[in-house]
Amino acid sequence: MAVPHRWKWLTVWLLGAVLSQSAQAVQGPQRNYMLQCMGCHLEDGSGKPERGIPNMAGVLGHFLRLPEGRALIVQVPGVMNTPLDDRQVADLMNWLLAGMAGTSRPADAPPYTADEVKALRANRPADVPKARAEVVRRLRAMGYAIE
Ligand code: HEC
Repeated sequence: MAVPHRWKWLTVWLLGAVLSQSAQAVQGPQRNYMLQCMGCHLEDGSGKPERGIPNMAGVLGHFLRLPEGRALIVQVPGVMNTPLDDRQVADLMNWLLAGMAGTSRPADAPPYTADEVKALRANRPADVPKARAEVVRRLRAMGYAIE
């Protein structure tokens, strides 16, 4: 199909803009998730509950309803052991909570900061699975179902 000459440049420009947008889309937290977390948690965060990797999709935000829950989701081994720095972890957690946590995220929950992540990483409970079980028990008692 014949395209008027002046439209060709517009097409080239638009294509370039679209391509650079999609390259940028896999930077930052999304890229870190793909590299550091997705192998276990899967692309949509559904995990493999039958193999002990909990579903985060549509539920992760409930943890923010308790200070211990807010701490715990940064203190699990997968987050503790990543080579990401505190700022990158804060950005990653905020990205997870804004995206896959869906409506489970309380609207008034403040975002994580690098300083908060740093403090949480430095003060980890000795028994994380036990701490998780306690948080989940309390959330269930509040009416928020988590596997
Ligand atoms: C080797 C597999 C593995 C990797 C890699 C991994 N995780 Fe996990 N994650 C788990 C398992 C298993 C749990 C369940 C708690 C536990 O036993 O530590 C979990 C729990 C969590 C939780 C708490 C959810 C809940 O319901 O308890 C969050 C949040 C989380 N991971 C985020 C991440 C992020 C972010 C990354 C990447 C930086 C990551 N994980 C990397 C296996 C992994």
